[in-house]
Amino acid sequence: MLVRVGPLRGAAHLGGDATMAIVQGSGDAQGGASAAREQWQSRWGFLLAAVGSAVGLGNMWRFSYLAAEKGGAGFVALYLFFTVLIGLPVMLAELTIGRGARRGPISALAHYGGPAWRALGVVFVAAGFLILSYYGVIGGWTLRYSVEAALLGFPSPAGEHFGDVASGWDSLATQLVFMAITIAIVAGGIGGGIERVARVAMPGLFFVMVAIAVYAATLDGAGAGYAYYLNFDVARAMSLDVAVAAAGQAFFSLSLGMGAMLTFASYLPRECDLATETVVISFADFGVAFSAGLMVFPLIFALGMGDQLSEGTIGALFVVLPEAFAAMGAIGRVVGAAFFVALVIGALTSAVSLLEVVVSAAIDAIGWERRRAALVAGVAVALAGAWSAFDLDVLDLADSIATNLFLVGGGLAIAIFVGWVMPDPIGEAAVGATRGRVHTIWRALLRYVVPAALVVILWSSVQETWAKLWALLG
Ligand code: PFF
Repeated sequence: MLVRVGPLRGAAHLGGDATMAIVQGSGDAQGGASAAREQWQSRWGFLLAAVGSAVGLGNMWRFSYLAAEKGGAGFVALYLFFTVLIGLPVMLAELTIGRGARRGPISALAHYGGPAWRALGVVFVAAGFLILSYYGVIGGWTLRYSVEAALLGFPSPAGEHFGDVASGWDSLATQLVFMAITIAIVAGGIGGGIERVARVAMPGLFFVMVAIAVYAATLDGAGAGYAYYLNFDVARAMSLDVAVAAAGQAFFSLSLGMGAMLTFASYLPRECDLATETVVISFADFGVAFSAGLMVFPLIFALGMGDQLSEGTIGALFVVLPEAFAAMGAIGRVVGAAFFVALVIGALTSAVSLLEVVVSAAIDAIGWERRRAALVAGVAVALAGAWSAFDLDVLDLADSIATNLFLVGGGLAIAIFVGWVMPDPIGEAAVGATRGRVHTIWRALLRYVVPAALVVILWSSVQETWAKLWALLG
């Protein structure tokens, strides 16, 4: 185990004690609020890692196919609405529990709510496990596409190629490579693994995205893409299925409802302004999703492939975009390779946060050493993912169940927990805060508004997912 005791870099940002001890590396199996718990090395490190968790396949793959399927700007507006009304309060709730308890999700909930709440923590870990099982499969596709784009270009016809890549042994193999990288990063620890990767990778991702969005704007015919993306169909936006999808997407994209943000916050020092961090993370995430639309739709429409988007499917990004890149010639290869590398970065920095939820629970609850926990949990997830790797309908169903039931249900439970059960959440959230009044509004939202909205969403999610399950079985 590598132990470094020294000044906290960036402690000035945190307003914290600059002589705070940092323990980083792989070996500390700390259960409770021990002084030796791993810690982020700086505020920026934490922010980049949290934004890295939020920004991922959800912002690009999931967001663009849902925006296409659910009618463009109406969906985007609802998604922004849920990000603000529900995402912000639930994010602050998770950060407050995590930083206060300084434990993984299972022990943190028991710490504030008593032993019965351990069950919710177990559900969180199960959700992390389930999401990573198919997320790793899609991560594998992005890895394969980025390597292929750099070495060979984009094979045609793209639909057939996607069929080969996405399902079967090829899919399993790339998923295993993706999971091996994820395991290696998590095994490296909070400061030495997750933070170190996020610091380098996230600025790279932002740069590539902005560069491609600017390039896409220069293409003839890009306007048709913007018109499609930003078209506001009021009647469509009023239907409940669009609201359900937008709420689920807000949770998925912000990494909420399964303790990922809670877990990341458990490695924070006490003195930091959680409300500010909540706003920064959430709007960075929304900004990336919105820009992904500004990049994807103009590219597709400029190459005359817009009609292929009418039916959004989980494969849309992996079929239509490569075709557009192939049609662009040499420049398409460069842009395409950069695009898929950015996607790999987003996927990896999110996957590590999913695995970290499972790993931190194993470290806290069983007392395993980090490396062992990362390896065992990661291999178990990868094996479970084989099911999605061999059957895209299973992947689609796992995504619906995880997002619309687990994450939305988890968000509801967190709102109730912090709104009604946790002792003095306002006092805990206010430690290190610069603005006081927001916390009273925050708790009122958590007590009444968020649960009321989520009960309605959850009810229709259950019906929708049930119908999907029957369709798959029948
Ligand atoms: N937020 C990630 C994305 O948008 O791709 C996915 C995700 C990560 C969901 C971590 C949930 C989570 F806990």
